Amino acid sequence: MNRRNIFRRLACMSLLLAASLGVEAQNTLSLVPKPLHLEQTEDQFTLKSGMTIACEKGLEEQAEYLQQMLRQATGWEIKVRPDSRKGNIVLTLDSVANTHAEGYTLSVDKKSVRIAGADVAGVFYGLQTLLQLFPEEVYRNSLAGQVAWTVPGVKIVDHPERPWRGMMLDVARYFYDKEFVKKFIDMMAMYKLNKLQFHLIDDSGWRLEIKKYPRLTEVGAWAGPDSRRLGGFYTQDDIREILEYARLRQVEVIPEIEFPAHMLSAVVAYPWLGCTGKQHEVPDQHFISRDLLCVGRESSYQFLKDVLDETVALFPSKYINIGGDEAVYTNWEQCPRCQEVMKREGLSKASELQGYLTNVVADMMKKKNRTVIGWEEIIQRGKLNEQVVALIWHNVGDTIQATRTGHKAILTPATHLYFDFPESRTPGEVKAATWMPPISLEKCYGIEVNDYSPAATVMGVQGCFWSDQFIHGTVLQEITPLNENRSEQYAEYLIFPRMLALAEVAWLPKGERRYEDFFERMKYQYAKLDAKGCNYRVPEPKIQSMTQEGDSLCFTLTPTVADAPICYTTNGSYPTIHSAVYNGPVRVKNKADFHAMTVVDNRHFSLPIYFAPDYSAYKQYGEFTTEWKPLQVQTSPSKWRFECTGKVSGNGEFEIAFIQTGGQNALKLGNLSLWKRDEKLAEISINQSSQTDKAVTGTFKVDAFEAGTPFYVEVEACGVNGNDTKGLVFIRKK
Ligand code: ACM
Ligand code: ZN
Repeated sequence: MNRRNIFRRLACMSLLLAASLGVEAQNTLSLVPKPLHLEQTEDQFTLKSGMTIACEKGLEEQAEYLQQMLRQATGWEIKVRPDSRKGNIVLTLDSVANTHAEGYTLSVDKKSVRIAGADVAGVFYGLQTLLQLFPEEVYRNSLAGQVAWTVPGVKIVDHPERPWRGMMLDVARYFYDKEFVKKFIDMMAMYKLNKLQFHLIDDSGWRLEIKKYPRLTEVGAWAGPDSRRLGGFYTQDDIREILEYARLRQVEVIPEIEFPAHMLSAVVAYPWLGCTGKQHEVPDQHFISRDLLCVGRESSYQFLKDVLDETVALFPSKYINIGGDEAVYTNWEQCPRCQEVMKREGLSKASELQGYLTNVVADMMKKKNRTVIGWEEIIQRGKLNEQVVALIWHNVGDTIQATRTGHKAILTPATHLYFDFPESRTPGEVKAATWMPPISLEKCYGIEVNDYSPAATVMGVQGCFWSDQFIHGTVLQEITPLNENRSEQYAEYLIFPRMLALAEVAWLPKGERRYEDFFERMKYQYAKLDAKGCNYRVPEPKIQSMTQEGDSLCFTLTPTVADAPICYTTNGSYPTIHSAVYNGPVRVKNKADFHAMTVVDNRHFSLPIYFAPDYSAYKQYGEFTTEWKPLQVQTSPSKWRFECTGKVSGNGEFEIAFIQTGGQNALKLGNLSLWKRDEKLAEISINQSSQTDKAVTGTFKVDAFEAGTPFYVEVEACGVNGNDTKGLVFIRKK
C-alpha cells in the first residue's frame, strides 16, 4: 500500500464524508486534455492475463510501448501480434476516418479496444487516452497488486487544435541529468505535448558536448569554487539516448543554441569569442552577460558553423532554436571590428547586427533544410531574409509583427506560461521568480491563443521552465526534503499541475475550453501524477461560498483533489494533518480565524487557504511592496533593505510611497537607493518623516532593467523618539 493509501485509511471517516460531498472515488472519464468528441457507453472492457495487442505494420513500437506499460503495472506479458488485426487491443492507421494530423479514434466495448490513428502520432495519442481511462495504477512502474484493470466503454474522436504543443526545459542554468530529462519527456507525452525546447546553453552553463570545442564542456559546464562546483553536460551519446526516448514518445527535441547573448559559458571557455577577449568566470548566480559573441571576427562565424554542424548532425528536428533574447549591445557599439561590420553592411544601429547575424545563420540552416526558431527579438532587429518562427514571450500582441513580416509565432508569454513563477503569494509558497505576479492554475488556463492571420500564424503554445532559481543559492535549502532529489522535486512542484493546463490549451479549441470543467477533471489527475512518481503543487481547497450568518461567517469548501481529505482550524492557527477533517459548512467569527488545507498524504499537503490583505484603498500608490512594524524599527539611523522585484517592472520613472498606518512614532526616512542585485541603479534623498495615512514619496529612474534579476530598495530609516510605528510601502510606475 502506498503512502497515499495509508493516509486514506487513517482518514477513512473523511472518505465517507467526501463521498457524501459528491466526490466519487473514481471518475475515469476525467481526461486531460479533454478529447474533442467523447461518448460514454454502458459497456466496459477488462484487461486480463493472456490477452493480446494486435497492430498493423509500422505500429510495432506503439504496441510494444503499451505492452511495456501494462507489464510494469500488471506483471502480465500481454503478447504483441505484429501485422495483425486480431487481438483484444487493436492498433491501426486510418487516415480516412481521421483526417487531421495526430488525430485518432478510440472505441472501447466489452470485447475489445480499437485505436485508429491518422498517423503514428495519432495512434500514440489514442494510447495515452486509453492509459488515462485505466485505473491510475497503470502508471506505476512496479506491480500494482489487486486491481481490476477495467476501462469504461467509450467512443472518442479526437485531434489537436495546434501542431506546436511545447515545453521548454532550462538545463543550462541548472543541470538536470538525462534521467530527469527522460522523465520530463514521459510526462509531456502523457499529456500529448510534442515539442521540447532544450535550453542547452546559457551564461551559467554549456551542456552540449561539441567535439571540435572540448573546452565548452570542460570549462563552460562548471561553475562555482571547487568545494561548491556545480554543473554537468550531456555527451553526444547521452543526447542520442534522450532523442531515441523522445522519438518513441512523439516528442521532437529542438536544441537551443543561444547567441549572441546568454552564452558567457562559451566566452569563458574561449575568450576570443567576445569583443574584448577578457577572461571571465562561469557565473553561479543569475546573470545576463553583456559579453556578446563578437560579430566582427571571422572566428565567430566559424565557431557558429562548427557548433551548428555538430548540433544538426545530432538532432533530426525540423527546427533549430538560436535563442537571440535579451542582448544588450554596448560591447558591439564599442568594438571596432563590430563597428566595421555595421559600416560595411550599411546598418544604423548596433542592434541591427543581430538581424545580420540571424540572416547568416538562417542561411546556414536553410542549406541544411532546417528552420530557425528564436525568441521574439530575432524578428525585431532588422529585416530577415528567411521566414523564421518567433517565440513571443513578452506580449502576445507582438504576434502581429510576426504576421506582418511573414513569420510564424509560438505563444509563450511570461505572464501565463513561465512556470518558474510561483502559483500564489501565500506565505510558505516556494521561493521562485518574482519579476512578474504569480501565475495560478486558472490564470495559466486562461491564456488566449489567437490566430492573427488566415495562414494560422500561431503554431501553438509553449510553457517555459527556467532554472534561474536553483542558482540563487539558498532556494533548495528552503524546500522540505521529500527525498534526495530536491531540485527535481522543486522543478516538478512548479511545473505541475500547470503543465496540464497548458496541454489542454494547446489541444482543445477555445470554444471547447471551460476552466470549471477542467477543474473538475483535474481532481482525478493528481492520483495519476502520484502513481507516476511525479511531484506537484497540491491545490488548496476551493471556497465554494463564504456567507455572513448573523455575527459569524460560514465557509463551504469544495475538494480540489479526489479522495484527499481537507483539514481545517477555526482559531487562526495553521492546520496540520491532525486537525479536524472537513465534513460540511464551518462557522467562524472572523475570516482570519479560518484555515483549511488539502491533505494528499501525511507528507504531501497544500498550503492553507490564505486571504491576502486588501490594499485596494491604496490603489493610487501602485503595488504593495512591503510593510514596517515596531519590532524591526531601530531608534538610531540604520539601513532598511527590502526586495521590490516585480514592482520595478521595466525602465522608466517610479514613485515609492511610505504610508504610516499606526503607532505613536514617525519613521524618519533619509537617503534611498535602488539596487539591481549588487549594482546600484539610482539614489535619491527622501529626508522626511512618515505621516499617518498620508504618503511620503520619492521618485527614481530605472534605465537598466533586466527581467529575472532581483531588485532591492535600501533606505536609511529611524523611529523618531521610539519604535511604535507601522506602515505600508507601495511602488508605482509613473
Ligand atoms: C526570456 O525569458 N529571456 C526569453
Ligand atoms: Zn566585436
